Amino acid sequence: MKVAIGSDHAGIDLKKELVSLLNEMKIECIDFGTDSPQSVDYPDFGEKVSKAVSAGNVERGILICGTGIGMSIVANKVPDIRASLCNDLFTAKMSRLHNDANVLVIGGRIVGRDLAKEIVRTWFSTEFEGGRHANRLNKIKLIEERFIKHGL
Ligand code: RB5
Repeated sequence: MKVAIGSDHAGIDLKKELVSLLNEMKIECIDFGTDSPQSVDYPDFGEKVSKAVSAGNVERGILICGTGIGMSIVANKVPDIRASLCNDLFTAKMSRLHNDANVLVIGGRIVGRDLAKEIVRTWFSTEFEGGRHANRLNKIKLIEERFIKHGL
């Protein structure tokens, strides 16, 4: 599996840790930055990672900002993105089981390194359940298409 990862300055330390973890897990990962602790705007990095997922260049994405909220808002603006803010293990598991989340968002100022690693392990090892949850995701897709085509 190929994964895109990105963060703003508030997520850079955790991003480094997660890149190492992905390497250990033998998951290929493309790092979209940021690469320095200088203050940057999270939408720039959230968009890059989400576009890579939406275009099918990678299968999944990981985004980190301070709380994870800003990155979640950005990612969910991009067609076909189901970004889930997972600052705990239960949410990480459910976001895959029920929501087939394709972008994992973590708050770098909220979650410690070890918990974040466990969230990533859980998220990648949990499969979508399908069934009634697939119907619900289809409804979300229809809402997205309606807004793109008709603006309502
Ligand atoms: C940056 O200070 C902070 O606002 C950002 O990382 C994020 O938490 C936004 O939602």
